[in-house]
Amino acid sequence: MYKKYVHGLKTLVPIENGIKVPYINFDNAATTPPLVSVMKRINDFSHFYSSIHRGTGYKSVISSLCYDNSRNIVLDFVKADPNHHVAIFVKNTTEAINKLSYRLKNEIKDGIVLSTYMEHHSNDLPWRYKYKVDYVEVDEKGRLSLDHLEYLLKKYKGKVKLVTVTGASNVTGYINPIHRIARLAHKYGSKIMVDGAQLVPHHPVNLKPIGHPEHIDYIAFSAHKMYAPFGIGVLIAPKSTFEEGYSENIGGGTVDIVTPKEVIWAPAPEKEEAGTPNIFGVVALVESIKLFNKLGMECISNYERDLTRYTLERLKEVPNIIIYDDGDIKNKVSIISFNIQGLHHGFVAAALSMEAGIGVRNGCFCAQPYIQKLLNISQEDMAAYKSNRQLPRPGAVRISYGIYNSFDEVNILVELLKHIGNNIEYYNKKYKSLAFY
Ligand SMILES: Cc1ncc(COP(=O)(O)O)c(C=O)c1O
Repeated sequence: MYKKYVHGLKTLVPIENGIKVPYINFDNAATTPPLVSVMKRINDFSHFYSSIHRGTGYKSVISSLCYDNSRNIVLDFVKADPNHHVAIFVKNTTEAINKLSYRLKNEIKDGIVLSTYMEHHSNDLPWRYKYKVDYVEVDEKGRLSLDHLEYLLKKYKGKVKLVTVTGASNVTGYINPIHRIARLAHKYGSKIMVDGAQLVPHHPVNLKPIGHPEHIDYIAFSAHKMYAPFGIGVLIAPKSTFEEGYSENIGGGTVDIVTPKEVIWAPAPEKEEAGTPNIFGVVALVESIKLFNKLGMECISNYERDLTRYTLERLKEVPNIIIYDDGDIKNKVSIISFNIQGLHHGFVAAALSMEAGIGVRNGCFCAQPYIQKLLNISQEDMAAYKSNRQLPRPGAVRISYGIYNSFDEVNILVELLKHIGNNIEYYNKKYKSLAFY
């Protein structure tokens, strides 16, 4: 529906018979192509690009204004409060969460962080190695258990300092009820951090006013999943988070006064952004936010949901398919993971690429504990994978949509999957030699 807004969609790619076909990108959860307007803006802005903050030349002033004004645009996009919150520019969601995990060391100290079994490794490992972490369970379909969350909050009797949870799963697309989770977390004296990598590009997000029991304290997201792939990510947090101490990265740009013996740090955000910032990345993100605002996140979310609903319906025609989905389409972003019984996920992904020019992702999607739960992988199986690293690993195939994907593209996918599902022997033989594990 929104094809005209996205750059590079006319690219043809070769498939196995040598013919070139239009590339079908169903891997938007990993990264998205840039918008046409983003590419234009990058080009236009390049004529004014210059050093920021300490330059007094005309181009420096323009560049500084673009960079500084962008913060309020980004804050407004998720309805953060500019009096309370600050937007820190980093590389991506992973860096944002690592930064936060470092900067909360005084707040959390020897308290507990609750993560979940649904998380991307980027919202698990940064906490795991700094704090005592416990994990909220998921049910057999992979939905987060709020009962278990409350059980843990009660069990730790006020010691939980942070609940850190994904806004939407990058494996199943399940949207978590972040405001209900926030209410629970706050009730038991904890704060909440939302990994917004998969939610912010596909669904309206509103952090809610400060003081509201459902308010979100921290959020992180990546521009490269928002049609602005120029190396920028965002951490939004209360300004107070950065008052004490200093950043994990220090150097130029982070200080007010430096003498041989003393450092007086600049306030956030400068204090948290060491070195020359990624101005092009920020300019690109602002341009993509402009389009999100013009189209409306509700409309985007509805369109992608229609596409997902249609896909789920049509996938029922595919023999031997297992879909990791609980049918609650209202609480899901446009991500579907599946397997074809009897075929390695790598073979399916390779077949989609080589036979129809369809780009998907396969494997565990940096969410191994979640995949282990969804696929019911036993401890014994895990022990076998650990002792023999050559064993083909478990996983799934993932399709994920963006604003520009179409129903016609879904039809091409389904027809090929039907063929694959009906000819498992053939595909096993054909792709085994390619060893796409
Ligand atoms: C839910 C989730 N969190 C975090 C990340 C990490 O994002 P990035 O690679 O942009 O740091 C991803 C990436 O796919 C993700 O899907």
